[in-house]
Amino acid sequence: MKKNILITGGAGFIGSHVVRLFVNKYPNYQIINFDKLTYAGNLANLTDIEKQPNYTFVKGDIQNKHALEKVFKTHQITDVIHLAAESHVDRSISGPMDFILTNIVGTANLLEVSRARWSKFDHHIFYHISTDEVYGSLGEEGFFLEDTPYDPRSPYSASKASSDHLVRAYFHTYGMPVKLSNCSNNYGSHQFPEKLVPLMINNIKTNKSLPIYGKGDNVRDWLWVEDHARAIDVIFHKGKLGETYNIGGWNEWTNINLVKALCRIMDEKLNRPIGTSQKLITFVKDRAGHDMRYAIDATKIKNELGWTPSITFKDGLEKTVDWYLSNTQWLDNVTSGAYEKYYSEKYL
Ligand code: NAD
Ligand code: TYD
Repeated sequence: MKKNILITGGAGFIGSHVVRLFVNKYPNYQIINFDKLTYAGNLANLTDIEKQPNYTFVKGDIQNKHALEKVFKTHQITDVIHLAAESHVDRSISGPMDFILTNIVGTANLLEVSRARWSKFDHHIFYHISTDEVYGSLGEEGFFLEDTPYDPRSPYSASKASSDHLVRAYFHTYGMPVKLSNCSNNYGSHQFPEKLVPLMINNIKTNKSLPIYGKGDNVRDWLWVEDHARAIDVIFHKGKLGETYNIGGWNEWTNINLVKALCRIMDEKLNRPIGTSQKLITFVKDRAGHDMRYAIDATKIKNELGWTPSITFKDGLEKTVDWYLSNTQWLDNVTSGAYEKYYSEKYL
């Protein structure tokens, strides 16, 4: 079946992996990547597929409803996979308004334009990508399930929780054909080096200190980004309307143990004596309201849709380190703001 799919945030970390997968796997689908190109998104992430006939880039802001109306009309959008967001917890603590405007108002704009353009809801899908952080913070035991009550604690997670509620409200009130998924922490290539894994790789490479918040005993569940993209593909095609699917790696690590594992891999790859990188670890002031533990129970997506993670954490981390070590120009360009400047001048 032919589809014209609007993927928002397709120039970002997870979005670029989803765009690549859909463009390559579904030549019948037109993929329209709608992205504002903030500091976190750049088109260098997609150079391998940018010339494919079923791919189009449109620079735009989901805060701008008219821009969304225009892209829906021009490209006769049939489906939405919504990833565009402000995504970094630390930035949401220092400046929450961008999170409120993009994540809440932007999602509301997208829902409103979809509702207005899709006169009948048959054959359309509005798929909203969200995070496990909406469920709050776990103690030592237990897992987040799809029916775990929401308890967001950072401006980022509160803005994502709010957008999730709006998406569900459009399903119940208007019959909008929605799907949602809430995923754990992703790692892999093309992630902006402010998040834990790429920040640590970049700092080890450049011999800078490795800032660990608090004692480093906070726990996150890590998933290979390409496995997240595969899960999104499966949910988009086989997930039930109105339903939510939790996606996770069954892969919990304390921050300190994860950083130590990265130090070891980096020592090996850089031919440094084992233990060299670990000396860079520095314990710093804890993040305000730092959630203690996230852990996903991904039984529903496994049993109902047959999805499971495809690679081990060891292999995934090695691949990730290899990618950052062989893409030093990309790292330099994102950290210096060179891509942001280049693409904002190219797409005014
Ligand atoms: P990212 O920050 O790497 O990318 C976000 C993208 O959205 C960028 O390309 C940016 O330019 C674009 N964008 C930001 N504001 C926009 C706006 N107003 N209009 C249009 N485009 C805009 O984020 P990511 O880590 O790839 O996350 C993508 C989605 O997945 C987000 O919705 C996030 O909440 C969710 N998520 C992320 C993780 C994770 O571990 N990174 C885990 C679970 C869910
Ligand atoms: P992050 O990658 O920002 O993802 P999130 O906050 O969405 O889970 O952080 C992952 C964990 O690593 C989190 O517990 C905070 C911690 N952290 C540090 O200890 N030092 C750092 O420099 C960063 C960026 C994160």
